[in-house]
Amino acid sequence: MDKIVVLDFGSQYSHLICRRIREFSVYAELVPYDISLEDLKKHNPKGIIFSGGPSSVYDPEAPIPEEEIFNLNLPLLGICYGHQLIVNKFGGKVKRANKEYGSSLLTIDNDKDLLNGVGESVRAWMSHGDEAEVIPPGFEVIGHTKSAKAAAIASKERSVFGIQFHPEVVHTEQGTEILRNFVLKVCDAKQDWTMEGFIESEVEKISKIDGNVLCGVSGGIDSTVAALLIHKAIGDRLKCVFVNNGLLRLNEEKEIDEMFKNNFKVNFTTVDASETFLNKLKGVEDPEKKRKIVGEEFISVFTKFAEKNGPFKWLAQGTLYPDVIESGVSKGPAAVIKSHHNVGGLPDWLNLEILEPLKELYKDEVREIAKILEVPEKLFMRHPFPGPGLAVRIIGEVTPKKLQISKLASKIVEEELIEANLYGDVWQAYAAVGDDKAVGVVGDERKYGNIVMIRVVDSIDAMTADWTRLPHGLLEKMSNRITNEIEDVTWVTYTISSKPPATIEPQ
Ligand code: XMP
Repeated sequence: MDKIVVLDFGSQYSHLICRRIREFSVYAELVPYDISLEDLKKHNPKGIIFSGGPSSVYDPEAPIPEEEIFNLNLPLLGICYGHQLIVNKFGGKVKRANKEYGSSLLTIDNDKDLLNGVGESVRAWMSHGDEAEVIPPGFEVIGHTKSAKAAAIASKERSVFGIQFHPEVVHTEQGTEILRNFVLKVCDAKQDWTMEGFIESEVEKISKIDGNVLCGVSGGIDSTVAALLIHKAIGDRLKCVFVNNGLLRLNEEKEIDEMFKNNFKVNFTTVDASETFLNKLKGVEDPEKKRKIVGEEFISVFTKFAEKNGPFKWLAQGTLYPDVIESGVSKGPAAVIKSHHNVGGLPDWLNLEILEPLKELYKDEVREIAKILEVPEKLFMRHPFPGPGLAVRIIGEVTPKKLQISKLASKIVEEELIEANLYGDVWQAYAAVGDDKAVGVVGDERKYGNIVMIRVVDSIDAMTADWTRLPHGLLEKMSNRITNEIEDVTWVTYTISSKPPATIEPQ
């Protein structure tokens, strides 16, 4: 498989470069900027891209890749900081300039290769402090903006290019075309990255492993697709276990059980541990304590299952590529959030090796595999759901009554969003409930009932989120249904706090 390697200098857009390239069926992988020459060669890349990054090339701490990487006779494209690195390394000069953020008009001066077919001028997304003042000898300017004379440059002798703008963001018109020119025309990479091909090669790889595989499935798309791929390769040597912790969405335990049993024919067991979970949570109000209890109980159920149904040699997980990168490159809050998702903390004596068949993939690629493997669409269109489930959506103690209210009210929120054709547009949507009460009038009687909070947010990666401006008519409909259909609810509120300072889940 032909591959483009992207060296990550820390831009928030580095990931997007790989995604854009994969969208036209060429495999691209992000690696740390300080990868050794030896490791880089192991990738056998058809071309190299330097990402952007927050540094200035003149900072004493500026990230600089191994010198020899510049001298490999491979096509090279520098973006933003990567552009300045190229200018600097090949003998040009970079200077501090006025910061330029946002869209600028890029005029094309030479459309021979990199900028071929993009037109006479395009809007390009800029985000930089430094700029190229003197271009290196042997280079020419192939594009400029009003403020950046050398916004795009090319070597006349080698396939080396630098661009000050970000082709990977949607705000750059023809950005994908520019990446496509580099990857397909300059690097001559083959478009051989397809999900059908991935399934085939992954299944072949997995079929060579020996021993049994244990896979905890949550009903979410990642663990489901991981399980199906492994099942395709080793059949019943894969055993899937789904733990019903009693904290799932309305009827979800039944739906997941049926989906696995009817649609997939994998070796699948549902362990109903709802009573134990809910007993352990009795009287507990503190959010972190609740999370801890759910985590520990899960491990305990999982371990018992492994002991009884083993021996297992492997533990399968639905880890995705962004999870791998987050845990390797940055250890920011994202890594902490993700740590909830995976089955961590299993006893060492279980001695399981980890199998992560999706660890090279992005979410949209996993969705594509799900389609190919005929996973019901309903499953992969579903919003993400927290591991501790409703324990973090119920404020204070988890009681049967609050559970029921949260389940029913969330169902109404989901149904109404689907009806309004807005479900797919929002990141998460549910109804939370706590212990606060308010007076209402039901029939002729005054009633002291629960307050339900509707929470609907927009987000890209859950790191930040904005409350969704839903139409008032839709909110009204949700509110009416919730108070009419759920006994004991008298008031419905809509949360208008974004993250930060709030979080998506209330607990
Ligand atoms: P917060 O509430 O931190 O949530 O803004 C960010 C995203 O992560 C999900 N979330 C969790 N997922 N275990 C999980 O598996 C957790 O403990 C947990 N807490 C929050 C939340 O649903 C949102 O998508």
